[in-house]
Amino acid sequence: MKNAEQQASFPIFAGMGLTPWRQHGVLSVPGGGATLEDFRTLSSADPMVQAYYAGAAAGGQRKRWQKAQAAEARFWRTWRQNTLYQHVSLYDFWLEVVAKTGGELASGRTLDVGCGPVSVLNFVRPKGLEPFGLDPLAEVYARENLIESRDDLQPMPIAGLPAEGMPFLDQSLDQVICFNVLDHVSDAPRVLAEIHRVLKPGGSLRLYVHTFAGWIKRFLFFDTPHTYHWDHEEFKALVEAGGFKVVHELMEPKTFDLPQTLLGKLTFFPYWVATKVAYTSYFKVERL
Ligand SMILES: C[S@@+](CC[C@H](N)C(=O)[O-])C[C@H]1O[C@@H](n2cnc3c(N)ncnc32)[C@H](O)[C@@H]1O
Repeated sequence: MKNAEQQASFPIFAGMGLTPWRQHGVLSVPGGGATLEDFRTLSSADPMVQAYYAGAAAGGQRKRWQKAQAAEARFWRTWRQNTLYQHVSLYDFWLEVVAKTGGELASGRTLDVGCGPVSVLNFVRPKGLEPFGLDPLAEVYARENLIESRDDLQPMPIAGLPAEGMPFLDQSLDQVICFNVLDHVSDAPRVLAEIHRVLKPGGSLRLYVHTFAGWIKRFLFFDTPHTYHWDHEEFKALVEAGGFKVVHELMEPKTFDLPQTLLGKLTFFPYWVATKVAYTSYFKVERL
């Protein structure tokens, strides 16, 4: 794992000045086209960044999303202290997710949308893959040294922006990854439309989301970190409607390595409930 000093040197847009973007004069708001070469630094206080945030919230679920993002930051601050995750090997975890979303990643320009602090691309990076990340909490993750990665991999540049309007040119990417994110955003159809816009035709998109048995969805209003609750078929229909063809799918019950004692089950009650009503839906889809 990288030490704090190495983590702090991750090239994150947010909080580091806007000059390289302005020089190119290509950053338009919202969702305009900067090239990936312009992928440098951007201050979170800059009006342009603020406009991206406003764009993400408009027409979406602004209040719910802000709450979800606060819950998200809280989760990542303490996740390694949770006994359920303490011993998780991120390398093994991501290899499994890659396998469940259709096998080896392709090479080429690859964007991890909603990459979080422990992106798959920080652990699984085949030869010829050029990694980029985007996450509205990037600045928090970097500032608080929450980013984890394999020591032998170069840090990837991460844009501190939401995905409802992405600053990339049309058809500029070979592959997009969006793991455990679409059910956390403000406006999922818009994020899918943006992914469709920036992916080359035939490019692949890997997805996984938590899905739920249909009957339980109306009781999930207390589930703050999620802005959407879909069942597998609803989610699949949404992705297909966004202009993607499903080439691989898998749905499996949600599992946690829970203590088997009654006290353990009570301590981790929400997790225990999840094993009864929640699933993980994995997809590999192709941009039409
Ligand atoms: C559950 S975490 C998953 C992180 C990572 N993909 C992983 O699997 O470890 C959800 C991530 O989605 C990000 N997110 C939420 N809303 C977003 C949006 N509108 N655009 C892009 N990312 C978003 C959050 O900041 C958070 O890092």
